[in-house]
Amino acid sequence: MSHPILEMKGITKRFPNVVANDRVDLELYPGEVLALLGENGAGKSSLMNVVAGLYRADEGEIFIRGKRVEINSPRDSMNLGVGMVHQNFMLVDTMTVAENIILGLPDIPFRVDMEKVNERIRELSEKYNLQVDPESYIWQLSVGEQQRVEILKLIYRGAEILILDEPTAVLTPQESKELNRVLQQMTSEGKSAVFITHKMEEVMAFSNWVRVLNKGRLVTVKETQKTNPKELAQLMVGRDVLFRLAKKERQTGDVILDLKDVQALDDKGLPALQSISLQIRAGEIMGVAGVAGNGQKQLVEVLTGLRKITGGQIRIFGEEMANKNPLEIINCGVSHIPADRIARGVAGDMSVAGNLAMKCYRKPPLVKRGILHPRRIIDLAKRMIDMFRIDTPTPQTHAKFLSGGNIQKIILAREIDACGGVLIAAYPSRGLDVGATEYIRSQMIEQSECGTAILLISEDLEELMTVADKIMVLYEGRIMDILASSEANTEQIGLLMAGVTEGKTAVGHA
Ligand SMILES: Nc1ncnc2c1ncn2[C@@H]1O[C@H](COP(=O)(O)OP(=O)(O)O)[C@@H](O)[C@H]1O
Ligand SMILES: [Mg+2]
Repeated sequence: MSHPILEMKGITKRFPNVVANDRVDLELYPGEVLALLGENGAGKSSLMNVVAGLYRADEGEIFIRGKRVEINSPRDSMNLGVGMVHQNFMLVDTMTVAENIILGLPDIPFRVDMEKVNERIRELSEKYNLQVDPESYIWQLSVGEQQRVEILKLIYRGAEILILDEPTAVLTPQESKELNRVLQQMTSEGKSAVFITHKMEEVMAFSNWVRVLNKGRLVTVKETQKTNPKELAQLMVGRDVLFRLAKKERQTGDVILDLKDVQALDDKGLPALQSISLQIRAGEIMGVAGVAGNGQKQLVEVLTGLRKITGGQIRIFGEEMANKNPLEIINCGVSHIPADRIARGVAGDMSVAGNLAMKCYRKPPLVKRGILHPRRIIDLAKRMIDMFRIDTPTPQTHAKFLSGGNIQKIILAREIDACGGVLIAAYPSRGLDVGATEYIRSQMIEQSECGTAILLISEDLEELMTVADKIMVLYEGRIMDILASSEANTEQIGLLMAGVTEGKTAVGHA
């Protein structure tokens, strides 16, 4: 076997309240993909940030191409041929693709020939089938396209060791397939990659080797072919995980959420929702399937008071709620798990406990005779931290210091806890590890058993099939069909998502 291109020995990284990495070893071989698997907070990003020059290890050694190296800055790392795509992208919105790609390059001449840069980007983007226009502005691009830019940036810089930090968390299933293809192409040219994820299926599909981290420690090294998702899940979580949720047959009640002929425009003033009619009953979970960008975002926004409708009716508990403001809608019993959780979901400068209690501070038992009880807020927070296994040093820690996955858990815990009869959940398990995903799914089922009407938007068909009672498919702002999930299959849903009905292609709006 060849020598590792990257080797880390005994890496320890401490933060004030936590040991993020505890004597971790890692080996990456040329032309191979190493999956780094672990739950939120296991120490995956920290370990790779050490190689990328963002963090300095407290102990341990790094070897690249067999030579001991000191990495003191991102520049050192780049010069050694290492490139990392971070969990939260680091692109400048107001600059073009090409400008972002050359930004920070060590040898930019005083005058840049942008035509040449554009040409080179077009070449690379064709070679790797990473389609993106070098002259577009970042703000014009979807998340999937922004990720292509991040990857092109590394290729442009000649990186030979690529580190991708949870790259599929923001992608559609089709986009992650595309990413897998790009990775295979790069490894066939002798480049190597570390692929960070918490999804076992991706480990199986993408990698040659897998290393599992748990609470900062390396728990196992396996050849991917010689393991399976069940074993990996168990190693990662440290216990057996249920993959199938038990869903009881249940009675549904009155219609709680009732949409008739709802129409809305997108930010550019084009039709985004066209005569959407649907009903969700108490105790029912309605799944929404569709390729991102087919009206899901606008549907959530009109239901939570963030976007006006231009026609139709929205009744919640029998009351007309169209075009009411978000607070009126919350008071009507609607909880919302937003897709963009970091930006919309938490107050970063507030404590974890404060964030958890945010929605119930007007109600008893937190308030007694008009007075807020800090003790009770902490108690409530402790209970939720425990239930959702939120990884925080203390309930008083500022939310912004938590990892992305743990910030998500705060929002989920709060919204589920405060739910008053209707739950709008946009991609609730996106970015969560298996343990947390399992928990959130079972919580939604439990909530519906208590009579909550739930709208569940997800890109994970498996999730929709196991959790939802019915699945509606959105395509170009219309409902293609609503199917009972017990009778639906993924192929049928996939065709509807592509706008195909009974062998015909749906006529889109012109
Ligand atoms: N910059 C930081 N300051 C303080 N603590 C941090 C920092 N970065 C990570 N941590 C902590 O280190 C631990 C590991 O985090 P991280 O490496 O982000 O995990 P993962 O990427 O596996 O989710 C967590 O407990 C996290 O809160
Ligand atoms: Mg991470």
